[in-house]
Amino acid sequence: MIKESKGKLGILTPGMGAVASTFMAGVIAVNKGISHPIGSVSQMGRIRLGKRTENRNPLIKDFVPIAGLKDIVFGGWDIFEDNMYESAINANVLERSLLDQIKPELEAIKPMKAVFDRSYVRKLDGPHVKEAATKMELAEAVMEDIRRFKEENDCERLVMVWCGSTEIYIEAGDVHSTVEKLEAGLRNNDPGIPPSMIYAYAAVKMGIPYANGAPNLSCDIPAMVELSKQTKAPIAGKDFKTGQTLMKTILAPGLKARSLGIKGWFSTNILGNRDGEVLDDPDSFKTKEVSKLGVLEEILQPDLNPVLYKDLYHKVRINYYPPHGDNKEGWDNIDIFGWLGYGMQIKIDFLCRDSILAAPIVLDLALFLDLAKRAELYGIQEWLSFYLKSPQAAPGLQAQHDIFKQQEKMLNTLRHLMGEELITHLGMDYYYE
Ligand SMILES: NC(=O)c1ccc[n+]([C@@H]2O[C@H](COP(=O)([O-])OP(=O)(O)OC[C@H]3O[C@@H](n4cnc5c(N)ncnc54)[C@H](O)[C@@H]3O)[C@@H](O)[C@H]2O)c1
Repeated sequence: MIKESKGKLGILTPGMGAVASTFMAGVIAVNKGISHPIGSVSQMGRIRLGKRTENRNPLIKDFVPIAGLKDIVFGGWDIFEDNMYESAINANVLERSLLDQIKPELEAIKPMKAVFDRSYVRKLDGPHVKEAATKMELAEAVMEDIRRFKEENDCERLVMVWCGSTEIYIEAGDVHSTVEKLEAGLRNNDPGIPPSMIYAYAAVKMGIPYANGAPNLSCDIPAMVELSKQTKAPIAGKDFKTGQTLMKTILAPGLKARSLGIKGWFSTNILGNRDGEVLDDPDSFKTKEVSKLGVLEEILQPDLNPVLYKDLYHKVRINYYPPHGDNKEGWDNIDIFGWLGYGMQIKIDFLCRDSILAAPIVLDLALFLDLAKRAELYGIQEWLSFYLKSPQAAPGLQAQHDIFKQQEKMLNTLRHLMGEELITHLGMDYYYE
């Protein structure tokens, strides 16, 4: 039984730069009838129910009781004091003529003081930062911000989505293994706990659903999974699946479906936004690289298909190139081979807009996590892998990267939640007629 969506839903984003401002401005523009929520599956996507002959294909937003866009309130934290109008102007993603139509609403959204430490994002520094003696005190300060935000904005429920910069690469270690050790680490200022984890801890500790849009660990550690079950908080991570990886997880399953071999996949990106600048630091890039590299291995299963994929050379590069701003260019050169090993090439040049692709993902993750909470689904929400480059999976399970399998899992989860039959596309009826 899913609890009703009553009252306002507060969506809080640690990090209020290009993605967050594009997301917030977009929802406000849609609410004013200025545009459509394109790219948001929760708003524009339909779901087939029952047999094909039944012709039941409602919009997902009419099928599942997700919060309405008019019931959303925005908040968040950043190391810069810019309000969301200023942030959106700086990000230079949306046109000024659009932003001016929603200026008062955007100006009213102001960041709270951030939990920030330069040693985890070396290319950034800003003045709007909390000070405290321990990481636990910082987490408590974030919890206090959350309580105040909820009361001042009269919110019924909250969701947090990390839209902050990519932090340096950290591997899960002992401090991340249990809630007890994580809490001790917060009290002892353990270096294995970056700011993103402090926000995640604050949210999950309060039972608030949490999603991580960047590749840093954040909620992807055993301690946070344990905590999320204790406090009944659904969680999902990590790294929004937008430009190049979106294309990769669309194309690779298709090539594999036809048993075509792949020898090499060289991917390079040039981008010039602040995210690109942060990723110019080799330690932040490493976090992103690990996130981007995992997808082909899982989709192609070279162990099971050695003739086709054993020798695949996969390389990912990201280059900071300021003239491109937020308009990322993702090049892929794919060396494939077919019948009797004869080679062919595919070239992709995706002139994409990073934040335009990421904004609807923030919206969908927030709405579906809020739904999950009301449906009493706790812990890792694997059915939301669809939106993520490096999806969190249950311990011992490999993450699923194939976008079509991810989509099926998401739609079947929604059918299951609403008591509809799951769709397997088996169509057995034909054989018995
Ligand atoms: N745009 C995409 O397509 C895409 C895809 C996948 C992941 N991401 C990730 O999403 C994140 C946001 O991307 P963006 O383009 O908006 O970057 P951005 O640089 O425009 O915004 C990030 C914001 O986070 C702030 N910030 C950094 N550390 C913080 C902290 N500890 N607390 C509060 N604020 C903090 C920065 O000041 C900045 O304003 C990045 O980590 C990026 O890697 C983006």
